[in-house]
Amino acid sequence: MSRPPVIVRTLPALRRALDILRTRNASLALVPTMGALHDGHVSLVRQAKRRAGKVAVSIFVNPAQFAPNEDFAAYPRTWKADLARLTEEKVDLIWNPDAKTMYPAGFASKILTEGPALAGLEDRFRPHFFGGVTTVVGKLFAQVRPDLALFGEKDFQQLRVVARMARDLDLGVKVMGVQIVRERDGLAMSSRNRYLSPEHRASAPALYRALKEAAKRIRAGDKLAPALAEGAASITAAGFKLDYLEARHAETLAPIAARKDGPIRLLVAATIGTTRLIDNVAV
Ligand code: PAJ
Repeated sequence: MSRPPVIVRTLPALRRALDILRTRNASLALVPTMGALHDGHVSLVRQAKRRAGKVAVSIFVNPAQFAPNEDFAAYPRTWKADLARLTEEKVDLIWNPDAKTMYPAGFASKILTEGPALAGLEDRFRPHFFGGVTTVVGKLFAQVRPDLALFGEKDFQQLRVVARMARDLDLGVKVMGVQIVRERDGLAMSSRNRYLSPEHRASAPALYRALKEAAKRIRAGDKLAPALAEGAASITAAGFKLDYLEARHAETLAPIAARKDGPIRLLVAATIGTTRLIDNVAV
């Protein structure tokens, strides 16, 4: 049995724990999460362990990134199982503030970024989302002061937004992306997959299949528009309501007209039943 991580829930306790962790100049990696941990999160933790002397994981379901009509109240909270997994992974510290600690009475600041945050992908459908993410991630970086922070490519636009913010604001943290972890049938792991009915769960891998197929066609020399149109048709045929399926520049997320303007990333968001899923692949 491994030693359980130090769990802190207040800023003074966090400071004391960090002072101890930082002795002997160990580098520190942070993995920000909203809990309900699955193998995708664990893969970030393992990368963090490989790259830094000490690893902190934050668990905070951030109200600021949910719109009033979204699933904040229903978002899965699985503290016991999360703690068991992070203990198994030998994480050093869990930062688990409550909403009043993160956003005390009178809180009146927001980090708003441009560039990738206004790329016209997630921001078009969830206009409040990146303001909530950048504000909380900026605070997490200020609170924990990690040398390295790891984010999944699963949330590809989020990764680009946070990396841009860290650079623009000279936060002194290197933001690293980690490959998407998938279920055996290709569905990208997500805390929200548990909302899928068995029937919708069976249809859900269509999203990744369509991405892979479109990427294959583009690599083989097909034009972007027909490859994406066919992908969109197969996603809709599987029962999804499609928000977007787009080819973007993998670094800037700018729209792209032809393969030569790449490197290309294909990004998709679609809803099946009441569950909205996102995914992406490199071309
Ligand atoms: P959450 O959805 O809990 O995800 C935490 C991290 O795990 C994110 O960086 C996300 O991209 C990564 N992740 C999720 N599923 C993954 C998968 N299948 N493979 C690889 N990585 C995966 O993203 C958030 O929380 C929040 O927006 C947060 C950054 C914590 C700010 O509140």
